[in-house]
Amino acid sequence: MNSASAPGKIILLGEHAVVYGQPALAVPVKQVRATVEVWPSEYRGVWIDAPDIRLKAELHILSRDHPLASSLHTLFFSLGIDPFPNLNIRISSTIPIASGLGSGAAVSVALIRALSAYLGQPMPDEEVNKLAFEMEKLYHGTPSGIDNTVITYARPVYFMRGKPIETLKPRERFTIIIGDTGLPAPTKESVADLRKLWEKDRHLWEGIFTEVGRIVNEARHAIEYGKIKELGELMDRNHELLQQLTVSSSELDRLVEAARKAGALGAKLSGGGRGGNMIALIDAASSNSGVTAIEESLKRAGARRVITTRVE
Ligand code: PMV
Repeated sequence: MNSASAPGKIILLGEHAVVYGQPALAVPVKQVRATVEVWPSEYRGVWIDAPDIRLKAELHILSRDHPLASSLHTLFFSLGIDPFPNLNIRISSTIPIASGLGSGAAVSVALIRALSAYLGQPMPDEEVNKLAFEMEKLYHGTPSGIDNTVITYARPVYFMRGKPIETLKPRERFTIIIGDTGLPAPTKESVADLRKLWEKDRHLWEGIFTEVGRIVNEARHAIEYGKIKELGELMDRNHELLQQLTVSSSELDRLVEAARKAGALGAKLSGGGRGGNMIALIDAASSNSGVTAIEESLKRAGARRVITTRVE
């Protein structure tokens, strides 16, 4: 049997402005993972078992545009495998689905690694990343490439549309606490609403995007030079700008406030906004009780789920 797993991801700074050409930073979330196991089947066909999405089927039964089916076809094609071997694929994941944590990209990366190794053609990260990007297109249409890159390399990344993605090495470790409002908020909608506003007054909104871009560049510097307190301040400023961009909500603001009051160095919404997740920053050197205080405070302020992850 071959198995592989891949972490989740979260956007640290720069969401929304990134759509308009500004840079963004994202980090892996190693506490949640997608795992894929592959082993031979005694029956003919490619048998997929993905209990998290209640899927149990043979590949050919699935419609060709099912994201998992087209991912597998893409993968077999790129490995030059024809006809398909008889095998079992089990996909499991602790990454919450459709919540900005990159569950789709993590499944793709784990699938590519487990299957290519099983078929005797293990791939280097660069190829895994390229193929995972192709699969992201099947899920999202026009993905930026940030999810598959953070997840493939399991490192923080600096991303700007149309430029090669760069991975970063933080000088000091830091801890991110992710609080989920529990409110579903399709990223597509907040992105579309902001676009309507931008179309009416480009000058106004682009001024804010440029300011976000400046903050992201300063944050990159802070991460690379181990200035974690400064990173916190930059997250706070980014949140204010996201409020101006109309993508925060009272629930997100409440969690952000609660985290700051409980001792976070900075806090902001993360991802599409309106609902979904927020993040809070704390020094990795802080005591466990410092982390617990923020986690508890987030739960009291209404967070449905809290995930704490160390970035290094
Ligand atoms: O919610 P996430 O992690 O998928 O992030 C969305 C980020 C946006 O900038 C709002 C949209 C995008 O495509 O970059």
